[in-house]
Amino acid sequence: MSSPLKEQINPHHLPRHVAIIMDGNGRWAKKQGKIRTFGHQGGVTAVKDTVEAAAELGIEVLTMYAFSTENWSRPKLEIDALMHLLVETISKETPTLMKNQIRLDAIGDIDALPTKVARNLRKTIDATATNTRMTLVLALSYSSRWEITKAVKAIASEVKAGILEPEAITEDVVSKHLATAEWPDPELLIRTSGESRISNYLLWQIAYAELYFTPKLWPDFRKEDLYEALLDFQQRERRFGKTTEQVKSEHA
Ligand code: FPP
Repeated sequence: MSSPLKEQINPHHLPRHVAIIMDGNGRWAKKQGKIRTFGHQGGVTAVKDTVEAAAELGIEVLTMYAFSTENWSRPKLEIDALMHLLVETISKETPTLMKNQIRLDAIGDIDALPTKVARNLRKTIDATATNTRMTLVLALSYSSRWEITKAVKAIASEVKAGILEPEAITEDVVSKHLATAEWPDPELLIRTSGESRISNYLLWQIAYAELYFTPKLWPDFRKEDLYEALLDFQQRERRFGKTTEQVKSEHA
């Protein structure tokens, strides 16, 4: 199906990495008089549509915030339902990931996940490891401060062992110790549901990302919404601290 919005997207000016904070599942369910879990089920449909759209466009990396460290404090019933949904979706979608050459990866404290979730996740990560079209990264039991703290500990250990000189610690060294080391930083961060917060997500990596907030609740997010976000991204001028004139002369 052709889309007028999609046709306006410049394929040569796409962000290599898009990060998404999927928010609003609970409110979406509540609006319909349903329990929160129903919203997470609706969220899966939005995940599938967005992954498909991103892969079709040629985006290299898509990182989705599926479960934060803070989410562990939700009611046990909701956590259990979310974990069940994750296992089920990952297993069910593995053939589609294979067919579409999509590699699955995860960032976060995977060992903190229930055994069954971690096992299924690792299985699909291994099965899709050589897929090259796009990498779908799920942030699970993830928080940016947890990730940065872990990186600081690893760097400190290397210094203590004499492998690394403190003077040799550059921004690049820090980046290489993060869970996202192998991917470029996200150039676009999308958050749904009208909240304008970062919520402990990829704090180091989004230093220069364009931020896009939409009132859409996550279960209502579809391909067209991704196209809109990308068109908005393409209309912005990315200056990285330089002047407009400098940027223009670089592209001349
Ligand atoms: C935020 O909405 C959403 C989550 C915490 C979970 C996201 C999970 C999914 C979309 C389903 C599974 C995902 C994959 C990748 C298979 P919220 O519950 O905070 O909503 P609220 O702010 O309206 O309460």
